[in-house]
Amino acid sequence: MTTSQRKILVTSALPYANGSIHIGHMLEYIQTDIWVRFQKMRGINCIYVCADDAHGTPIMLRAQAEGITPEALVARIKNEHEKDFADFAIGFDNFHTTHSAENQHLAETIYQKLQNNGHISARVITQLYDPVEGMFLPDRFVKGTCPKCKSDDQYGDNCEVCGATYSPTELINPKSAVSGATPIEKDSEHFFFKLPDFAEMLKNWTRAGHLQTEIANKLSEWFEVGLQEWDISRDNPYFGFEIPGAPGKYFYVWLDAPMGYFASFKNLCEKRTDLDFDEYLKSDSKTELYHFIGKDIIRFHALFWPAVLAGSGLRTPTAVYAHGFLTINGQKMSKSRGTFINARHYLNHLNPEYLRYYFAAKLSSRIDDIDLNLEDFILRVNSDLVGKVVNIASRCAGFISKQFEGELATQCTEQALYSSFVNAGDAIAELYEQREFNHAMREIMALADKANQYIDDNKPWVLAKQDGQHQAVQDVCSVGINLFKVLITYLKPVLPVMANNVEAFLNIDTISWSNYRAPLLGHRINPFKPLMTRVEPEKIDAMLDEVKKNAPGSQQQAKKTDTIANTISYEDFAKLDLRIAKIVDAKTVEGADKLLQLTLDIGGETRNVFAGIKSAYNPEDLIGTLTVMVANLAPRKMRFGISEGMVLVAGPGGKDLWVLQPDPGAQPGMRVK
Ligand code: 2FM
Ligand code: ZN
Repeated sequence: MTTSQRKILVTSALPYANGSIHIGHMLEYIQTDIWVRFQKMRGINCIYVCADDAHGTPIMLRAQAEGITPEALVARIKNEHEKDFADFAIGFDNFHTTHSAENQHLAETIYQKLQNNGHISARVITQLYDPVEGMFLPDRFVKGTCPKCKSDDQYGDNCEVCGATYSPTELINPKSAVSGATPIEKDSEHFFFKLPDFAEMLKNWTRAGHLQTEIANKLSEWFEVGLQEWDISRDNPYFGFEIPGAPGKYFYVWLDAPMGYFASFKNLCEKRTDLDFDEYLKSDSKTELYHFIGKDIIRFHALFWPAVLAGSGLRTPTAVYAHGFLTINGQKMSKSRGTFINARHYLNHLNPEYLRYYFAAKLSSRIDDIDLNLEDFILRVNSDLVGKVVNIASRCAGFISKQFEGELATQCTEQALYSSFVNAGDAIAELYEQREFNHAMREIMALADKANQYIDDNKPWVLAKQDGQHQAVQDVCSVGINLFKVLITYLKPVLPVMANNVEAFLNIDTISWSNYRAPLLGHRINPFKPLMTRVEPEKIDAMLDEVKKNAPGSQQQAKKTDTIANTISYEDFAKLDLRIAKIVDAKTVEGADKLLQLTLDIGGETRNVFAGIKSAYNPEDLIGTLTVMVANLAPRKMRFGISEGMVLVAGPGGKDLWVLQPDPGAQPGMRVK
């Protein structure tokens, strides 16, 4: 098959529609985008689709918390995501959403086929249920004390302190993270995808070159443990697609998410006449399908998804390419360390192509984690892009404009050097194809060093002052410009914006991998404008300041959240029984880092309340003061006793917490309205 006949469909993982894109996400979109842009430059029919992953409990709850519908939330976030991607020059052919008619149709059809082929089973399971909210609780929405190490405040599936994994029913003193209520156990019928039906198929498929070796090896361990049936239904309330014939049951978000790749493609096919959707999906498709993903979601893409596709008579992926996580200055991105950098934080201060290049210089086909070291980022971008690549053009262009009216020489006086640049293209292309971008960048920078060496050796600035060297100045600078053009060709998948600016500067058509070989001779170029400025360390500092300001708990964030008022009805407000309370006693609680135990007098009745204000108050300073409490909050059993209400406190936390105090005239027990 010749390359021009290849038809490739490429995807990046679908971002959840309940949060902002951060630069950890961007690692993947940049990796995929570079690969796709490279394929397109090679003349291959390559389509890149993505979508927002719109379903699931977290999105439903976030919408609830904001007092809007999930549909409104996902529409708003989709706009935000699309702007971030566009500003990072991510060239999707289509960006859609999993909450779409195309995806519903696909999910229903594929599910129907799985059912017809006997791959769905049903049985009753017991799960934790929030009796206040009337909903089953996903593991991440149950918190309690770790059954192994007894650490408080751990999620329902694993302990962040000791690393133990367990089922949420094993948690000690579990609480719903949604309402704070103690969950109960409740039965419900669920539908399962019979993954074990595909054990043989998957053992072969995962060993047939569709996966990186490290991943295939990891999966072998899972096969040894044995494949389990996969729970693919969720009960009402849930934001997703209702399962046909099963009222109140919804497809689990991870069932319809990968189908969203095809839904986005289908949506594109409806807008374009040159694409045949079925040609890409049929089981004997000759087209290629590549999924770029993070290493945390391998099992969904390398086990469940190929099995679902095979089980419903569709094609399986040509390859799944996983990458590692992004660390910043050697550590996990962290809100408290101020390194949780959103795409928009970055874009507000820095050129997106710096990051595209930096990631390219680090990415390979392996799944190792990638570190963004901010010092190294400054050095690398300034040295390679500004100091080496752009420098070639800026050293030559001025002479061509001023002394030759923009006209390049009519001959290439360094044919051997020029040919060595052009001939490096095949090896660099192979490195792009294999996703060895770091190696490709090293090759390109070695060429840039050679070009600068050539200019250093020939010194046009010296020649320009010597009699009889006029032609030599034009020759040397024209060679320099032509070498620069070859380098920009090789960098174009990584730096598409700069490459477009270079095309305008060189006054040439779109550069591709098939039209870059001939040098520009006797050709008029445009005046040079700076193509990229140096990374200024102050801009990095300004970005990090913005990140810190937006981190939860910061003063600015506190002000910001104060302005976000989720409306409630008057009836809701009226349910609150707020009372003036006198703090008659206050003491520390043994074994509790954050709590003070308060005894509150609300007019003839005393209440015991545990309040998380130890970081801001000496207990004795509170005794005898007045405050406001929620008097009709259901009592909560805590490790240290029962808490019978809450006091009202303002502030972001730590030392910055203030217990609300009414004017001294208020009397204990008075209702606050
Ligand atoms: O892990 C995630 O962020 C998921 N939203 C990725 C989904 S990828 C695909 F399967 F839809
Ligand atoms: Zn633990």
